[in-house]
Amino acid sequence: MEINRVSFVTSMDRYRDYPGIGLPEMAVAGKSNVGKSSMINCLCRRRKLAKTSSTPGKTRLLNVFDIEGRLRLIDLPGYGFAKVDKGEKQKWARMMEGYFADSSTLRLVLHLVDIRHEPTQDDRDMTGFLRAYGIPFTIIATKADKISRAARMRHVTAICRALQVQPWEVIPWSSETGEGREAVLAILEKTMADAEAEGMAALEQV
Ligand code: GTP
Ligand code: MG
Repeated sequence: MEINRVSFVTSMDRYRDYPGIGLPEMAVAGKSNVGKSSMINCLCRRRKLAKTSSTPGKTRLLNVFDIEGRLRLIDLPGYGFAKVDKGEKQKWARMMEGYFADSSTLRLVLHLVDIRHEPTQDDRDMTGFLRAYGIPFTIIATKADKISRAARMRHVTAICRALQVQPWEVIPWSSETGEGREAVLAILEKTMADAEAEGMAALEQV
């Protein structure tokens, strides 16, 4: 599939009623600077839809995007930003917890980790958080263009070990080359189709 219709819906400091609430949601989570906003732009083939920055901590809000009027993609604020104080960190944790608890239509989280680095404690906490909330997730290993093919397997193995996932659950990704794009678009399409099929089934039962 290709995404033809995409638009920015809103930014919010916590999960609240927004235009289109009730549609299936897919969220993008990960450390600051890991490439969340770049991935959204690459998926949608738009250069400036989601604001990217070489300064970590750019996205501090839940940014909501409309995909084909069928799904809401949520760009979550990054974690692990070294310069934030304890108060900021607590604010972030409350925002995330609020989101995971309050969204009744969140179907999947794309959890981004940098393919070059061993996942951090914050990364492991995020995976733990998702498991605790029972939210399905897929690991996206970003910036795959930055390491050689030969080194790749070793890096993926380290990610698997740290996050307790299987190699086939990790999608190598590059916003530079578009690697992984087809796989993630297929996940997006399946998520929308599953949600719609469940909606139809629920209607038929009324
Ligand atoms: P926050 O909003 O601060 O949490 O960051 P983010 O996760 O949204 O990261 P963003 O997309 O802004 O990217 C951070 C930096 O990494 C930018 O300079 C991007 O150009 C670069 N970058 C992102 N993805 C890739 C990638 O796949 N390959 C390479 N080489 N660079 C990337
Ligand atoms: Mg961002």
